[in-house]
Amino acid sequence: MKQFQKTSELQSYLHSTGKSIGFVPTMGALHEGHLALMEASKKACELSVCSIFVNPTQFNDPSDFDKYPVTLEADLEKLRNAGCDAVFYPSVSEMYPNGTADLKSYNLGFPETILEGKYRPGHFQGVCVVVDLLLQAVQPTKLFMGEKDYQQIAVVQKMLELTNSSVELVKCPTVRSAEGLALSSRNARLSEEQKIQALAIYKGFNLSSEFAFKQSLLENGFESIDYVACVDPTTLLEKPYGEKPCLILVAAFIGGVRLIDNKTFS
Ligand code: PAJ
Repeated sequence: MKQFQKTSELQSYLHSTGKSIGFVPTMGALHEGHLALMEASKKACELSVCSIFVNPTQFNDPSDFDKYPVTLEADLEKLRNAGCDAVFYPSVSEMYPNGTADLKSYNLGFPETILEGKYRPGHFQGVCVVVDLLLQAVQPTKLFMGEKDYQQIAVVQKMLELTNSSVELVKCPTVRSAEGLALSSRNARLSEEQKIQALAIYKGFNLSSEFAFKQSLLENGFESIDYVACVDPTTLLEKPYGEKPCLILVAAFIGGVRLIDNKTFS
């Protein structure tokens, strides 16, 4: 596996190969969810690239950024075992040579005004800025992203349209623990007891009302809830709870850790 920290070196390697490129952007602390994206990339493309970059511009809460787990050596080992061809792990100054104060902004429209967009102001602008920069560096054929971050996929799709990108966005299903907890780098900050309590999210998808879902979260150790929402899976417009086809999304805090998850009912 090739390792790069400089965009110029990554580019000269990639462009000399002439192969189709699959790209998996991540913030590291890799788990089976990330590795499933790598597996999908390996199946579909001749060469697979993963980036590891904890992007400061997408953290609306500075303490969340400070506490974000960093496990570079273990990540590199996992990628090597997964058959990743090249990993890109730039520094902040490599990604943002002119600083982070005056960045490009994107007219993302409706998807930025709801749910994650509403509760994490500026978050999706930061995601789009970094994914746009990473795509310019990697210039992949296909981009692999997880449905765990459903709204992020919608926003990145919009960014690809706005930038006239020809990259194909491939959506991959959420990977869960055997019990149902959606894998997340942030789970590393939960105690064993909190991981069990957090299963209330997975079980809650089967409850028949928003109220019942919220009650169950609060009874199972969650201290606060940003939202439990039911939307149309395509338009993301709110609709009556549980009326199919629908997507139920949740964001809630347990032990100071903000977890998100979603489930589609077709
Ligand atoms: P990160 O949270 O590291 O996630 C990287 C990719 O892995 C995203 O596409 C995410 O949806 C996917 N992923 C995370 N957990 C998953 C799971 N349990 N099952 C399937 N896929 C999963 O999302 C980001 O980083 C950043 O916002 C990024 C796109 C890299 C931009 O900085």
